[in-house]
Amino acid sequence: MIEEKKDLLVLGIESSCDETAASVVRGGREVLSNVISSQIALHTLYGGVVPELASRKHIENIDTVLRQALREADVTLDQIDAIAVTYGPGLVGALLVGVAEAKAIAFAADKPLVGVNHIEGHVCANLIAHPELEPPFLCLIVSGGHTHLAYMKDYGQFEILGRTRDDAAGEAFDKVARAIGLGYPGGPKIEKAAREGNPHAYEFPRGKVDGSAYDFSFSGMKSAVLNELNRAEMKGETVVQADVAASFQKAVTDVLVTHAMSAVKDLGEKRLVLAGGVASNGALRAALDDACRKSGVTLYCPPPILCTDNAAMIAAAGYYRYLGGQRDGWDLNAIPNLALG
Ligand code: KG4
Ligand code: ZN
Repeated sequence: MIEEKKDLLVLGIESSCDETAASVVRGGREVLSNVISSQIALHTLYGGVVPELASRKHIENIDTVLRQALREADVTLDQIDAIAVTYGPGLVGALLVGVAEAKAIAFAADKPLVGVNHIEGHVCANLIAHPELEPPFLCLIVSGGHTHLAYMKDYGQFEILGRTRDDAAGEAFDKVARAIGLGYPGGPKIEKAAREGNPHAYEFPRGKVDGSAYDFSFSGMKSAVLNELNRAEMKGETVVQADVAASFQKAVTDVLVTHAMSAVKDLGEKRLVLAGGVASNGALRAALDDACRKSGVTLYCPPPILCTDNAAMIAAAGYYRYLGGQRDGWDLNAIPNLALG
């Protein structure tokens, strides 16, 4: 049983992909500032995240973002109790910028350093959005690099029930968006296009994985979209972008909802926690909400701004790791394929 420290101030730093972010969170759950500098405009030029450019942009931005986070929270670095930083998973060069910055500040200001798993951070966004929420609970984590059904047994303790065998849900959104000419960032663009489309225009496969009720596969669905585009092109047919977007989004949503609800049922859970960038998708939220209501399950989900990458979620996760006694040394390193649990 962890003893909460409601006044503890954690400075969170996040730079695992294409957002440079810093945040001050009090008592693990109260956001005093949440500054996010997005690199979308830069990467849009190339149709996706260019790792080398992402690292350089993080270096350019991180000091300004950190200063702004402290200023908006109206605190000085001296008042901060711990510095939490994402050290994986993510792009190695991008992660290194945040880790090096966090180490430098922690060393110079003589503050404890706490390394945080980015995926755990996504789950902890829910602790901010729902102050009464405490583990254990079942969670569905859907981001650009990961798709997991996991059981959060306690703060910082996860058991993975299912994971994707190929593409992550967000990755599939991004690849399909590129294929149908919507470009980057794929998820929000597909969601927008899908509003004008017919979700029943195409019946894309709902990938199943042999031998596992909870593992996911999205590459078959993505290939089916590409095959449909090729077939139409060869026949000289025009493809309605909005219909493909809506049908694909429906297929992804169906798979996520089916998997999550069978885990809820099998484990006899009454709560389901949704997390990750794809969790900001309105159609997914609505479908899960509907399924949960019908089963008497409470769905927890952060607001969209806390679903996509941010540093408040890293500070929240760091707070609980700090309370659990975690202190990292100056040898903390970026781990691009860091696992959850
Ligand atoms: O969690 P996140 O911000 O970064 C990672 O940790 O990967 O997730 C980014 C992913 C991208 O693949 C993006 O296309 C997807 O989340 N995403 C969405 C939406 N907003 C972001 N997918 C579907 N609908 C959205 N509205
Ligand atoms: Zn993320």
